[in-house]
Amino acid sequence: MLIGVPAETLAGETRVAVTPETAKKLVAQGHVVRVQAGAGLAASATDAAYEAAGAQITDAAGALGADLVLKVRSPQASELPLMKAGATLVGMLNPFDAEGLQALAAAGLTSFALEAAPRTTRAQSMDVLSSQANIAGYKAVMLAANAYPKFFPMLMTAAGTVKAARVVILGVGVAGLQAIATAKRLGAVIEASDVRPSVKEQIESLGGKFIDVPYETAEEKEAAEGVGGYAKPMPPSWLQRQAAEVAKRVALADVVISTALIPGRAAPTLITEEMVKSMKPGSVIVDIAAGKGPVRADGGVGGNCPLTEADQTVVKHGVTIIGETNLPARVAADASALYARNVLDFLKLVLPKDAAAVQVPMDDDIVVACLMTQAGEVKRK
Ligand code: NAI
Repeated sequence: MLIGVPAETLAGETRVAVTPETAKKLVAQGHVVRVQAGAGLAASATDAAYEAAGAQITDAAGALGADLVLKVRSPQASELPLMKAGATLVGMLNPFDAEGLQALAAAGLTSFALEAAPRTTRAQSMDVLSSQANIAGYKAVMLAANAYPKFFPMLMTAAGTVKAARVVILGVGVAGLQAIATAKRLGAVIEASDVRPSVKEQIESLGGKFIDVPYETAEEKEAAEGVGGYAKPMPPSWLQRQAAEVAKRVALADVVISTALIPGRAAPTLITEEMVKSMKPGSVIVDIAAGKGPVRADGGVGGNCPLTEADQTVVKHGVTIIGETNLPARVAADASALYARNVLDFLKLVLPKDAAAVQVPMDDDIVVACLMTQAGEVKRK
């Protein structure tokens, strides 16, 4: 099968869907792999490395015109005309982007969005949300430490003692857990909040403290259990008590890293302007939910903090607010290495050994969940 690996065209996207390591495996399986010249450069993968792995170097049309196209982000309007009707596309295609999926269907593509894979044990090796969120959590702490004008660790020096930084993590999924682990390694004191009670033990096992907001009604408890491991919107009664607890911690914090998301909905507001005002000058917020919050009155979209500006670093009320929307792209080589392995593992389901064409086994829950478009129609479940 002819497999194409285009260079990503979205601004700031440094990752690539196939690395020389995974290209070699696809070539060994008997496929022809065509990589667009320079596609891996930002992720430290040279054209020469792809050639050494047995891939061919081509141009955009050569990569996008393949039978199976492996991408990081959904193709843009300028790329779609270069793709063949009937071809298969695998990538992070944003299952909630109805318009984007319509465009893929209209282009006659069979497309799979890897973000839609279920959070099950069998799907773990192809879980792009986990592989990339892990990186986002790490990089968020790195950016915070860089912007924060003080040390993270407690230091006892001849010139006096320096206090450890207090870090508050809001939302303890994959990114939040990595943020806790990374901040802990740097010596910070950590407190963390999530709606899901199951994270308490995980936070404590990483050396952080859980900000406990007990459930007072059956409705609160039921909502906190979420669906499929994901958070559901919490009742206002619980959110108010959570806000009060979080506000106390945020006022004392040096760094806040927020990661709270609810799939398919606007990210919850957890750090209000009042809370930002209460923070010490020089404090830092890294809002991983940047660009995913509710639409503001000025038409902008913040994150877990309404003051966040997507893809910008702003200083509001003396607090630096970092709103990068693509943190994994800042760790391009490892983000690509892990993503490319996720893609390779997914291909085992739709491109079994010796198969001449892509197959869509409708009895496979992972394939069915990831299938977005087929035969001109949006198939998203
Ligand atoms: P996510 O990126 O969708 O959300 C981040 C975190 O924000 C979640 O922990 C969520 O509970 C939290 N959150 C939402 N609203 C909040 C609020 N109002 N206040 C505080 N926190 C709030 O989550 P992610 O990282 O994608 O993880 C989702 C679930 O999937 C988790 O339960 C995780 O353990 C599970 N998972 C399971 C895997 C498997 O079994 N294969 C692999 C990876 C994750």
